[in-house]
Amino acid sequence: MRSKMTFKKNILCIGAGYVGGPTMAMIAAKCPQYKVTVVDINEKRISEWNSGRLPIYEPGLDELVTAARGRNLFFSTEIEKGIRDADIIFVSVNTPTKTFGQGAGMAADLQYWEKTARQILANSDRDKIIVEKSTLPVRTAKAMERILNSNGGTINFEVLSNPEFLAEGSAVKDLENPDRVLIGSRETKEGLKARKELVDVYANWVAHERIIESNVWSAELSKLTANAFLAQRVSSINSLSALCEVTEADINEVAYAIGTDSRIGNKFLKASVGFGGSCFKKDILNLVYICKSYGLNEVADYWDSVVRLNEWQEKRFVLNMLSNMFNTVAGKKIAVLGFAFKANTGDTRESPAIYITRGLVEERAQVNVSDPKALVNAREDLKDMREGIEFIEDPYKASEGAHAIAVLTEWDIYRKLDYKRIFDSMVKPAFIFDGRNILNHRELFDIGFNVFAIGKAPLKHF
Ligand code: UDX
Ligand code: UDX
Repeated sequence: MRSKMTFKKNILCIGAGYVGGPTMAMIAAKCPQYKVTVVDINEKRISEWNSGRLPIYEPGLDELVTAARGRNLFFSTEIEKGIRDADIIFVSVNTPTKTFGQGAGMAADLQYWEKTARQILANSDRDKIIVEKSTLPVRTAKAMERILNSNGGTINFEVLSNPEFLAEGSAVKDLENPDRVLIGSRETKEGLKARKELVDVYANWVAHERIIESNVWSAELSKLTANAFLAQRVSSINSLSALCEVTEADINEVAYAIGTDSRIGNKFLKASVGFGGSCFKKDILNLVYICKSYGLNEVADYWDSVVRLNEWQEKRFVLNMLSNMFNTVAGKKIAVLGFAFKANTGDTRESPAIYITRGLVEERAQVNVSDPKALVNAREDLKDMREGIEFIEDPYKASEGAHAIAVLTEWDIYRKLDYKRIFDSMVKPAFIFDGRNILNHRELFDIGFNVFAIGKAPLKHF
């Protein structure tokens, strides 16, 4: 192992989650001259990062971590030591939606983040660069600076905003070849110097024209704006999926037709059962709260409607199942194929599958939940529901004796199943609800299924 002295810089990341872990693994892989340490208060998580079974599933991550771990990538619970040794500290602790007090259900809960700032202050004896990785309300850097500089000004902390744009399931690819890296700083001499230091880290593998520099507030707000725009596209297409279902227009054809307009672009136009993930809802509600706090109620309402439409889309899916299955699912077995909020991840945070499964169980259905990677999280999400749910990884077994299948995650394996075999094992009439539009609907109809897709007229045998 290389000795500590041979490293050019010590980089620390506080928070070994979905963002901190992969981001630091990529920096370590691309910058062997830096020592990269990731710390977390959660001991179990750290020991998993140090084991053969990482705490998160992400294609390509195992190889990345294995190659750098022990060389210049370290996972540890020694937060205070980590802070003392570090030149650059990334803060990637969670900033969930507040569940209490002022702004409950909307504002960001900054308690972990503030605690971290105080911890940094208490354990620093020299100047440091602090990088906000967590998504934060615009102008948070100011508060962080105030806390950090409450020591009487002997140590200089420069706070930079460097939001993360990676998407789960493609995190390694996104980190390796990002559309852009955004770095915001104060525009003072010290601010610009710190900005340059962080630019130099990314310049080890990202082309200079892809590294965008801005003031710190623009960087903070750009993260919220990016997620709000992405979510808004999903809600826009989902709103029209409802209209397609009753007019015999086909949402895939509409999306293709509008997506070829280069001004609109063809990405993020897939109609679905709804968007999930830890960021979209949280960040939009955060944006809504900030707008309200500045008295910008029209702006707040505009973005709030993106979240409301998404909730409606999830609810509509359950009601659609119910009304088409003769207004009752009580006692009927239903196979939910896919529980993760998107394919290629085991993450289920804010997954539409949670709401839909709960809705079906409340209607007294017997739900078999299936997923190749997310069953551990699914069990946790549904642990309060003692009856009416079974977890079965094999999709064939999960569908046996079922009245209906609901596809809720676009896992590739679900495209390739033997649906004739599945149909033969189901109760008739057999229903399939494709919440991701990934199946061949005509073929399923010919097999004998009654097929309900998002944004398409149903194919029914009666
Ligand atoms: C987090 C934020 O939630 C998000 O706003 C931001 O955009 C990126 O960082 P994520 O990595 O997905 O997202 O969160 P999570 O997987 O929950 O990881 C956060 C980690 O911070 C957890 O492992 C938690 O134990 C750790 N943590 C939290 C600390 O180490 N110290 C604390 O005080 C609080
Ligand atoms: C998102 C942002 O993309 C990323 O830049 C940011 O850093 C974190 O939040 P993530 O939540 O991991 O990433 O996944 P994303 O690919 O954006 O998907 C979010 C949700 O939208 C998923 O549930 C997905 O299934 C859904 N979605 C996405 C659609 O329903 N239709 C689409 O066309 C695209």
